[in-house]
Amino acid sequence: METDLEHQGLSRRDTKEYVLVTGPTSGVGKSICLALAHRKSNLVLVARNQEKLDELQEELKPSGISTMIIKCDLSDYASVTTACEQIISRHVHLAGIISNAGESLPGLFGDFSHEAIQNHIQACVGSPSIMLNSLWKLLTKKSYIVVLGSTCSLSAGYGTSNNSVYSASKAYLRYLSESIRKERGKNVPRLLVVHPGTVNSSFHQSSGFNPSKQKWPRVISSEEAAMKIISLIDDERAGEVVLGLDNRAAILLWRLGIKKTLLLFKGIKNALQR
Ligand SMILES: NC(=O)c1ccc[n+]([C@@H]2O[C@H](COP(=O)([O-])OP(=O)(O)OC[C@H]3O[C@@H](n4cnc5c(N)ncnc54)[C@H](OP(=O)(O)O)[C@@H]3O)[C@@H](O)[C@H]2O)c1
Repeated sequence: METDLEHQGLSRRDTKEYVLVTGPTSGVGKSICLALAHRKSNLVLVARNQEKLDELQEELKPSGISTMIIKCDLSDYASVTTACEQIISRHVHLAGIISNAGESLPGLFGDFSHEAIQNHIQACVGSPSIMLNSLWKLLTKKSYIVVLGSTCSLSAGYGTSNNSVYSASKAYLRYLSESIRKERGKNVPRLLVVHPGTVNSSFHQSSGFNPSKQKWPRVISSEEAAMKIISLIDDERAGEVVLGLDNRAAILLWRLGIKKTLLLFKGIKNALQR
C-alpha cells in the first residue's frame, strides 16, 4: 500500500537534509518556512490542518525545495509517534528542528476542563519532548534545535495570570532545553530557546487580546520574528535569547519590581554624576 510520503512523490530513503518546523501553517512558523525556503532549505512541515499544509506546500513550490508534509495533531500522543516513525522511515538527516507549534490556553485555572489541560500539556510539553527524543538520531553534528519560548513577560519564568497552563508548559520547555544543554556540555547539536516578545499573529485570537493595542514593549510581525530567529541560527547562537531591547528591559522591570528599578536608575544617575 502506498504510504502518505510515497503519495507525495517522495521515495522511502531520502539523502537530502531537511529542517523540520512544527506549526508551519501560520504566524512565526510560516514566516520561518518562507525565509528558509528562500535560502533553499528543504522542509519537513508538521501541523494538524491538511488543507493549510497543502496550501503552504503549493506556496513553497516556486522555491524549488523539497517539502515533506506530516499531518500531526500534537495534542494526540499516537499522532506524534506515527509522525516520528514516518520521518525516521525516510532516513533523512535533519539540519535543524524548529519546535514552534504552540497555542494559548486563556482563562482561569479552576475553569479549565480536564480535557483542555490534558490536550494542552500533550501538545506543548509531551509532544515536543517526544519529537526531540525520537528524532535526535536524525540530527548531525552541525544541526540546531530552536524552541519557541513565551511572551516578553517571560511567563515561563515568572508565571502569568489567565494563561497558567500555557506559562507552565513554556517553563517546562525552557528548563528541558537548559537541562539538555547541561547534559551535553559543549557538544552539538546547538540548542536555542527564543522568547520573541509579543508577535502579531493568530495566536492571540483565542484570548481576545489585540496585539496592535500594545504600546510597550513593541509588538513585532511574524516576519520580523522569523528574520531575527534565522540570524541567531546563522550566528550559531545557543542558550536563551529574548528578542529586542525593550523586551529585555521589560523583564528587568518585572524582575526587580518598581521600587528596586527606581533605586537602580538612581544609582546609575549618581554614578554618572560622580
Ligand atoms: N504570538 C506571540 O505573541 C507569541 C509570543 C511568544 C511566544 N510565542 C510562541 O511562538 C510560537 C508560534 O506562535 P504564533 O504566534 O506563530 O502562533 P500561530 O500563528 O497561532 O501559529 C501556531 C502554529 O502552531 C500549530 N499548532 C497549534 N496547535 C497545534 C497542534 N495541536 N498540533 C499541530 N500543530 C499545532 C498551528 O497549526 P494549525 O494549522 O494546525 O492550527 C500553527 O501552524 C508558539 O509556540 C507560541 O507560544 C508566540
